[in-house]
Amino acid sequence: MADDWANSGLDLHVLLDPRRKVGSLEQALRAVIDDGSLAAGTRLPATRALAADLGIARNSVVEVYERLLGEGRLEARVGSGTWVRERPVPRQQAGVDRSTRFELDLRGGLPDASAFPRSAWLAAMRQALAEASSTTLGYGAPEGVASLRLALAEYLARARGVRVRADDVVVTHGFGELLGLVAGAVAARGGRRIAVEAYGHGTHREVLAAAGLEPVPLQVDADGAQVARLHEAGVDAVLLTPAHQFPTGVPLSAGRRAALAEWAGVTGGIVIEDDYDGEFRFDGRSIGAFQALAPDSTVYGGTASKALSPAVGIGWGVVPASLRDGVLAQRRRTGSATDVITQSALAALIASGGYDRSVRTLRTRYRARRERFEALLAEGAPDARVIGLAAGIHCLLELPEGVSEAAVVEAGAERGLRFDGLAAYAADAATAASRPPTMVVGFGAPPELRFEQAVVAVVASIEAAR
Ligand SMILES: Cc1ncc(COP(=O)(O)O)c(C=O)c1O
Repeated sequence: MADDWANSGLDLHVLLDPRRKVGSLEQALRAVIDDGSLAAGTRLPATRALAADLGIARNSVVEVYERLLGEGRLEARVGSGTWVRERPVPRQQAGVDRSTRFELDLRGGLPDASAFPRSAWLAAMRQALAEASSTTLGYGAPEGVASLRLALAEYLARARGVRVRADDVVVTHGFGELLGLVAGAVAARGGRRIAVEAYGHGTHREVLAAAGLEPVPLQVDADGAQVARLHEAGVDAVLLTPAHQFPTGVPLSAGRRAALAEWAGVTGGIVIEDDYDGEFRFDGRSIGAFQALAPDSTVYGGTASKALSPAVGIGWGVVPASLRDGVLAQRRRTGSATDVITQSALAALIASGGYDRSVRTLRTRYRARRERFEALLAEGAPDARVIGLAAGIHCLLELPEGVSEAAVVEAGAERGLRFDGLAAYAADAATAASRPPTMVVGFGAPPELRFEQAVVAVVASIEAAR
């Protein structure tokens, strides 16, 4: 069998037997249509072009197409060529994808995609491309595009009180990637254990473990993580969400912030600050970044996933000098990179004030949602208690006596809701059992028009689970 590329407008990779090219073309086409590699609705190359690419007579290609037309695999459209026919999805395949069962995603922390500033982003993308030099369009620097690092340094100092110069900024593919790079750097210099909040993002614990660090749970109470225990925990680093503990919703108290800075100073430990939704504080008492208290020991991390969208795929770290080479070495080792054009567009968006506008618009929208959420719940399920609503785009909902998290998850799924109980965020079984049944409800993701429907479905799920 010989390999042939048929570059007839459509890149068609077919394996042909040189001794029976026509027969093997027919077989190959039938196979790729049937297994879906050549998708329904794809236009096939013109017969003349395909024949020339494969070195066979045009008539032979016409015959093959005709046979497949006769079998119903292809269809001819007058004046526009030959296409793979659309076929109805077989019954047993319809609806097997679990994700399609959920109409409303209320998992903690997802933003409202319908609020994405499309026109501003389009303008920023256009500007980025128009201004890109040929150097910009090459491989980007591992630490990120200079204009974005500068824009972020200015923004983070102004909006979050971070102590930062552009040189300290490393741009990554979201906070998740930053975490992996920092964890890898800590492990590479001999670190073994990292404290994590006992409630948190399961994926982040997995990222740490994959980098070779053992996550050690740190209990969380009304003042945030119990950082006094860091000394006895014998850890090299700690991952925290100081502005708005994820997902329990409390800020790290002033006393604990001071104790954390002292721990870092005394032990040389590294604090990884996940400031995932620091911009979204609703009661006017914005809490600045912890990083300003211990800039030499803290990696400050943020993300564009909340104020714009996870689809933008950009996060950032403000990395202290002692870790910067290690973080960039991880980047080289893992081959990771961040899309340069998107970085340039984000720089343009921040410089134009568009990023701030998006944050302000969302803050207003989420504040209104928070109020409606509270009012609808007070009406529909007055014995469920809402906790941690002063910030962010999720809250906790302590369930009425006798109602379990599992029953509400199940009843929610029947109503098209996707959300989890608090136990699903726990780092270990003891933590999972330590609080009364509570749901984590993200109120950011449903589109504006369906928000009320989502809250009504939450209330109905609690009712059904009683
Ligand atoms: C606690 C927490 N940190 C960080 C992030 C952002 O991660 P990324 O930038 O990888 O999207 C999220 C997103 O849901 C989150 O919930």
